[in-house]
Amino acid sequence: MTETKNNPTRRILVIDDNQAIHQDFRKIFKPGLVSSAKLRLLESTLFRPSFAPQERPVFEIDSAFQGQEGLAMVCRAVEEGRPYMMAFVDVRMPPGWDGVETTGKIWEHYPDLQVVICTAYSDYSLEEMIDKLGHSDRLVILKKPFDNIEVQQLANALTEKWQLLQQAKCKMDDLENAVAARSEELKAANEKLHESEKMEAIGQLAGGVAHDFNNLLTVICCHTQLMLDAEGLTPKLLASVRQIATAADRAAELTRQLLAYARRGVLQPREVNLDELINRLIKMLEGVLGEKIALQIQCAQPSLSIKADEAMVEQIILNFALNGRDAMPQGGQLIIRTAAVVVKTDDVRRNAEARTERFVCLSVTDTGCGIAPEILPRIFEPFFTTKDVGKGTGLGLATTYGMVQLHHGWIEVESTVGQGTTFKVFLPASYSGDKKPSEPSSPRTTKHCHETVLFVEDEPTLRELGRLVLEQYGYRVLEAEAGGQALEVWKEKASKIDLLLTDMVMPGGLNGQELATKLRADKPSLKIIYTSGHSTHLLGKDSGLQVGLNFLPKPYNPQSLAATVRRCLDSQPLPALNAPSEQQALRVASAAANGEPDASAHIHSGPG
Ligand SMILES: Nc1ncnc2c1ncn2[C@@H]1O[C@H](COP(=O)(O)OP(=O)(O)OP(=O)(O)O)[C@@H](O)[C@H]1O
Ligand SMILES: [Mg+2]
Repeated sequence: MTETKNNPTRRILVIDDNQAIHQDFRKIFKPGLVSSAKLRLLESTLFRPSFAPQERPVFEIDSAFQGQEGLAMVCRAVEEGRPYMMAFVDVRMPPGWDGVETTGKIWEHYPDLQVVICTAYSDYSLEEMIDKLGHSDRLVILKKPFDNIEVQQLANALTEKWQLLQQAKCKMDDLENAVAARSEELKAANEKLHESEKMEAIGQLAGGVAHDFNNLLTVICCHTQLMLDAEGLTPKLLASVRQIATAADRAAELTRQLLAYARRGVLQPREVNLDELINRLIKMLEGVLGEKIALQIQCAQPSLSIKADEAMVEQIILNFALNGRDAMPQGGQLIIRTAAVVVKTDDVRRNAEARTERFVCLSVTDTGCGIAPEILPRIFEPFFTTKDVGKGTGLGLATTYGMVQLHHGWIEVESTVGQGTTFKVFLPASYSGDKKPSEPSSPRTTKHCHETVLFVEDEPTLRELGRLVLEQYGYRVLEAEAGGQALEVWKEKASKIDLLLTDMVMPGGLNGQELATKLRADKPSLKIIYTSGHSTHLLGKDSGLQVGLNFLPKPYNPQSLAATVRRCLDSQPLPALNAPSEQQALRVASAAANGEPDASAHIHSGPG
């Protein structure tokens, strides 16, 4: 850093082989002389009209007697961060370099130096000097003998020019830094966009795969249940079928997690007591953490409840515990806490995702390595991991983020490198005083039902299965593989049909909702059940869909199918669909059909 600002001392180097000249210069720049009235008058006329006396520069004069010595001094001054602003250089300096040569050499090292070449005779013509040094605005030629005032004026003007040049350079540097910083920001924003596009693409893929899996799983679950219900299986076969049923349940759980990651899952919220849930997990967590990590549970009293999907909350805690374990290879402490919080306006200002309501804060603290500030903003990105290949996929926190968002909550992180990390999850509280939504009561599912069901489903195995199950209960089942075919069946048998059971997303241009609206217009008493592997979130909070009453999430089993059909038939007819607008529902349904991400407005977008 050179001392250009706020320092009135202006350094000048005189390079001349004649001792007497140096003394002359010192006399000229003696402070008393510089402030002579004549000079002040000249300065105020020529430069600034209000040249304040306190701004008067102080000159520091150094001497060199040969060109080589001058060059060495200029270089040293630059290294020390106190460069010379100008030099008076004599032309003739035997035995060494002459003034023109000296100036050329100095400019090679320090081109900002303003130079006055002092000459008594015309040793060089101006053209010759320009030939040697090139055109330069840093060069002035002064004929000897010189006038004191002239020298002072030159010194004032050229050192001032040098200072302005440095200021301009600083400004340029600032500008370049600002441009570089902005470019970095843009690059980071681009990378973030790229990441979120990647996450959307993965979400689409995961959602699509999980959706198809749900159809297959429904077939597997239903058939195993039918086999389990059937009589006459040998004990060996019965054990096999039970294994299939258990595996199918686990596969259904995995599919649910995949959909949660894609934020399209069918959330299965119920009133969950956090105390009880955490206590149930202790054994498993201790096994996961190993002996070197002490697990501490500090649950708020009285115990807190949330409205949540139990399996997802377990997964969230497990993900944090696994990360904590990995952050404490030498052992440490993992503390799980619960606390009731009322989120205030200030908190909302601090965190854009927060809302002023009653929340439960579930926090997991470890005493591990902590998270470096530069990677902290990236930890929720899918596939971001600092772990070795094969040790981490980088999906733990991304999935956690998706699941917390599905619950309309948010996450906060505090971390200090070398000390540990705390993840806090805020979830809407469900106080015991709150009215629980009434669970649909168990229906009478006898085998002597008589109603007629129109079952519209494009997956043939599912259609056949549904018919099989419903016929076992005594229903008459009419089938259609798409909306168009359903309308034809309707034309012939409308008067006999009591209930429409329809997939929501179907090929052929007519989705479940459109079909239902058409048939309802014809027969207002028609009961309707929608079925889908997608979330009810697809249709927004106020869609009017109720699991177990007019919505049957996939995968389902024979009992849930029969129970939902019975319950729906025994209830008052619900509106065809109470989506915000038919158009939006259509847009959402077609987005789902195309495997597009969740189109409803109340689910937040991906991380960052
Ligand atoms: N408690 C923690 N302490 C230190 N670093 C953490 C902690 N939790 C997360 N991280 C950092 O965040 C990164 C992402 O975590 P995330 O759980 O998403 O993926 P992962 O643990 O690397 O892999 P996966 O969970 O898929 O096995 C981790 O690789 C780690 O660098
Ligand atoms: Mg992890």
